[in-house]
Amino acid sequence: METKSYATVKVEKEDGISWAILNRPEKRNAMSPQLHYDMLEALTELESDKETRVVVITGAGESWCAGQDLKEYFRALEKNPAEKRKAGWASQEWRWRKLYTFPKPTIAMVNGFCFGGAFTPLIACDFAIAADEAIFGLSEINWGIFPGGLVSRVLAESMTYRDAMYYIMTGDSFDGKKAAEMRLVTYSVPKAKLREETIKLANKLKQKNPAALKAAKEVYKACKTMDYWQAEELMSAKSAALAANDPERGREKGMKQFLDDKTYRPGLGHYDRNK
Ligand code: ACO
Repeated sequence: METKSYATVKVEKEDGISWAILNRPEKRNAMSPQLHYDMLEALTELESDKETRVVVITGAGESWCAGQDLKEYFRALEKNPAEKRKAGWASQEWRWRKLYTFPKPTIAMVNGFCFGGAFTPLIACDFAIAADEAIFGLSEINWGIFPGGLVSRVLAESMTYRDAMYYIMTGDSFDGKKAAEMRLVTYSVPKAKLREETIKLANKLKQKNPAALKAAKEVYKACKTMDYWQAEELMSAKSAALAANDPERGREKGMKQFLDDKTYRPGLGHYDRNK
């Protein structure tokens, strides 16, 4: 296993899966300015890293991420507007813009606490698998603020109106099972099986054509806010770009193996990428 350590983040690479681990367990992986800079750098490297097929974001110790660091991100930066702006930019950049449009599949593996500002990367990831025992909460209201830093916006994307209003306004916490029931996460499993189940999903994604996966998520995420004419134009352009640029020539391979060779059925599985 190849490992790279940043001050507050550790990246472990194994079998095409890169594990980006928030690594401040003693602070429950609260997001300090340094953590924002480290995650931005780590994700930027993984974006173009040839060995990385799938990125998993998880936390060291008992927590996934306890939200923004109240001491280092909020209180300390009040007196330092220049650093506040820089850290604020890095925070939005990795948690939303970079992660939401990441060119490879992303999985949030929620091993424990997930509070406040942690909902942004949670929702930005394509998939989220939570431990049944994980504890989630929109705790902002409990200390006199509201879910900012894009959290309210991303909640509107991923929770129903009733669920969002309830948890934003009560600050009540809920567990991984409840998060799965509300479809905030893809599914939840007992903590003892969390890593195994995450690897299973990552391995499934590794079997797919990477260029098609990249285009698939880009198109879905981009067209959500478009009108039908724009969406049709986008899909037509992306489809031509994929057909022209896919190094694997997946579309042709898939059609040939189904229509000519009759060696597989696309409805029931993937074409043979080695042929
Ligand atoms: N910011 C700063 N420090 C934090 C944070 C945080 N968000 N979360 C935990 N810590 C620190 C604690 O201050 C403590 O530090 P210390 O050992 O130097 O005193 C250490 O992490 C351990 O925290 P405990 O509270 O002792 O750990 P416990 O396991 O009992 O509780 C829990 C964990 C529930 C996560 C608790 O720490 C907590 O409520 N944290 C705040 C969670 C929160 O509301 N986050 C949202 C912030 S708002 C936003 O993100 C916009």
